[in-house]
Order: sequence, then C-alpha cells, then structure tokens
Amino acid sequence: MAIPLLCSTRNAHKLGEIRAILGPAFEVWDLSTIPELGEVEESGVTFEENAALKALAASRYFDGWVLADDSGLEADALGGEPGVRSARFAGELATDSDNRHLLIQRLLALPSQRFAARFRCTIVIAKNQKIFGTFHGTVEGHLIPEVRGGGGFGYDPLFIPEGHTVTFAELPAELKNTLSHRARALHAFRNWAAEAIAR
Ligand code: IMP
Repeated sequence: MAIPLLCSTRNAHKLGEIRAILGPAFEVWDLSTIPELGEVEESGVTFEENAALKALAASRYFDGWVLADDSGLEADALGGEPGVRSARFAGELATDSDNRHLLIQRLLALPSQRFAARFRCTIVIAKNQKIFGTFHGTVEGHLIPEVRGGGGFGYDPLFIPEGHTVTFAELPAELKNTLSHRARALHAFRNWAAEAIAR
C-alpha cells in the first residue's frame, strides 16, 4: 500500500517532480489540503535550516510523514549566489523569469565565459513535529547567460548538467528526474524509508 506523505510546498513544479521521482510507492499530498498553514518564513541561512522550518511547520497540522524540499542554485562566479535566496533572488515577489533575467545580467557583467554552478537539494522528513531524517543531493554543471529550452522551471533553462550539452529545460523531464539534485536527495530518502517507514 502507498505510504501517505505530505509535501510541505506550494510549488507545483517541485511537487510534480517529487511525485514523478517517488512513484507509486508514496501517495504525495501538498499544502492545498492544509489551508490553515500560512506562508512559512524561510529565515534559515542554509537549505537544511529552511527545509527543517517547512517540515516542522506542516507537521503541526498533519499526523503522518511530512517531507520538505529546500533547494537552489549556487554559481561559483557569484560567490555561491543565489543559494538559499534562489526563489527570491530578484525580490520577495519575483517570478522565475525575473530571477533568470537578473542572473543573466549578473553573469554577463563577468569576464568569464564558463560559469561553474550546481543545484543543491535538501530533503527533511518530519513526523509529530520531530525531524527523522535529512537527505542531500547535488548536481554539478555550468550556466549559460541565455534562456534555452521550454521544459522544467526556475533556473533550468540556464543550467547545463555535467556530461550533457543541453540545459535541464531542453532535456526530457524523465531524464532530469534521474540526474537532478532532487532525484539524488529523494533516492537517499527512499533508501532510508525502505527500512524506517515501510515495514
Ligand atoms: P525554495 O522553495 O526556497 O526551495 O526555492 C527553490 C528555488 O530554487 C526555486 O524557486 C528555483 O528558483 C530554484 N530551484 C530549485 N530546484 C530547481 C530545479 O530543479 N530547477 C530549477 N530551479 C530550481
């Protein structure tokens, strides 16, 4: 039987990827089922702190397992920016397109032509307002200062994963979902869950 899992997000793209990666072994719910939970302030300075804040906040309203994903992009030439501020790089109300535009401007202002970068994802699992596990995933690659491809979300059209020549937004979703930072963190979670949750 599928394991119910509340995903502490309102990001439909993240949710879709998490559902696709975890597959039918998990019945993944999202925060639309918990309207009483307001916006969780991501006041942490690391992905782990923010994922823990989101997992624990949702766990106050849900008896079962809660999963929170905090993720973002780190560009070496920008000293790790946008990092934990990836979602609000261009401001609190910024759209993905605003954020991409700002990143492109920042990259074009640099002398280098090749911009090493990585996506990071931290997954925190909570239940009854306690943290049971923290899982990390990273994918290395580089950024291009132009939008390429119509798939994915966020910074996908600017990011070429190592070993590939096209952006995450140009790769089929199924392929992104085997090699992404999120896929890697969720793979570690799934291994843990096979022992700790599924009996
Ligand atoms: P969070 O909701 O604070 O974890 O923000 C995550 C932000 O990082 C997103 O809004 C995107 O801008 C970026 N991000 C995280 N994962 C991905 C991805 O898989 N592709 C593209 N951008 C991502």
